[in-house]
Amino acid sequence: MTNLIMAQGGRLGLLRTTNLLLKDNCNHPVILSGKRLSSWWSHVEMGPPDAILGVTEAYRRDVNPKKINLGVGAYRDDSGKPFVLPSVIKAEQRIGAKGLDKEYSPISGNSEFCKHSILLALGEDNVAVKNGLTVTTQGISGTGSLRIGTAFLQSFFPGNKELYLPTPSWGNHVPICKHSGLSVNSYRYYDPKTCGLDFKGMCDDILKIPEKSIILLHACAHNPTGVDPKPEQWAELSALIKKKNLFPFFDMAYQGFATGDVTRDAFAVRLFVKEGHHIALAQSYAKNMGLYGERVGAFSLVTSSKDEAERTMSQIKILIRPMYSNPPIHGARIVNEILGDKELNQEWLKDVKTMADRIISVRTKLQDSLKKNGSLRNWSHITEQIGMFCYTGLTPPQVAALTKDFSIYLTKDGRISMAGVSSKNVEYLAYAIHEVTK
Ligand SMILES: Cc1ncc(COP(=O)(O)O)c(C=O)c1O
Repeated sequence: MTNLIMAQGGRLGLLRTTNLLLKDNCNHPVILSGKRLSSWWSHVEMGPPDAILGVTEAYRRDVNPKKINLGVGAYRDDSGKPFVLPSVIKAEQRIGAKGLDKEYSPISGNSEFCKHSILLALGEDNVAVKNGLTVTTQGISGTGSLRIGTAFLQSFFPGNKELYLPTPSWGNHVPICKHSGLSVNSYRYYDPKTCGLDFKGMCDDILKIPEKSIILLHACAHNPTGVDPKPEQWAELSALIKKKNLFPFFDMAYQGFATGDVTRDAFAVRLFVKEGHHIALAQSYAKNMGLYGERVGAFSLVTSSKDEAERTMSQIKILIRPMYSNPPIHGARIVNEILGDKELNQEWLKDVKTMADRIISVRTKLQDSLKKNGSLRNWSHITEQIGMFCYTGLTPPQVAALTKDFSIYLTKDGRISMAGVSSKNVEYLAYAIHEVTK
């Protein structure tokens, strides 16, 4: 039976009409005769908008017909439209014709998909895969795969539960790690003076990381800088990380997007595995298959024995079950159609190259247009950097001027998504950049 207590209204639980707080004998507010109690959430403060998605919101509100959105990390074709890969359209037609059911996936996702994903990353002839030493689970795109990986490390990593990120890194890395309960630290990566890699700073900082810590590495097309180590530098990093006994966690969200070649872009991951590192790996099909909203990715571990593989997999499943139970099915089916069929696979590789080549060509156009506009600055980094993003070196006031005076939207750190640049807007963009930097 409810024993009502009447009390003076406080911050919580004022009756809209009577100004009195009613509580039952468990001290829970009570709704009386259809009158609703006021909010439980009056203490919740407004959070800041997402640094990247906030840029798109501001862009949408702008009525200038010349406006450009360079904030969002999603590929656009040369007319600025989202691009559904022709190979993906074919895969979906094939899936549609099969009349498949909509049953739940297993906790770790579609097993065929997991096999394709690890082979795409490590190569068809990889020995660790052949010997059953790898563990792969489907994840909710790259973000979800990182989330599973960091949760696993938080629960089971035997060393320091401290993860080292490059400076700068993708803006979501810190929140993902913190959500999983890992502490986050950093190592030098980008050199603002050269708009390139601070390799010496990176190595010096890695040398100072306590042994048995976790180091996160962007496998290719580093976000936000577009700066990647060269193959010989990756070899040095592998040796250094081995010497320091660090655990390498690769984030590979852009395989194929950097050079247009999925094998070349997997160089670092494959080298580390060949050199004997037992790595963790998060993959995403958002960019290289354009499956952004399908949320399809994978998390893998390379372990040291079959038994270890089985034990770690069992714990990964236990972690996933209360998070989201099991992953969505459609994206994994698309990936299976594409990677499981030789012909369609070839078509997809061409699609990947089409996207990467457009980005590479628009980099050259932007650099040339800046020169034509009379800019005397050194813009060589625009073509030296790689992948979806260019870290322009523009200062926050220059970024603000681009937005205010030219309706060009980008993140405050001067990062531009090259996917938002097209043959139609590149001249205007170059003119505007020159105006704010001369
Ligand atoms: C470095 C990096 N990792 C992971 C992701 C995850 O993306 P998604 O969750 O869309 O696959 C992104 C996306 O921008 C990224 O840039």
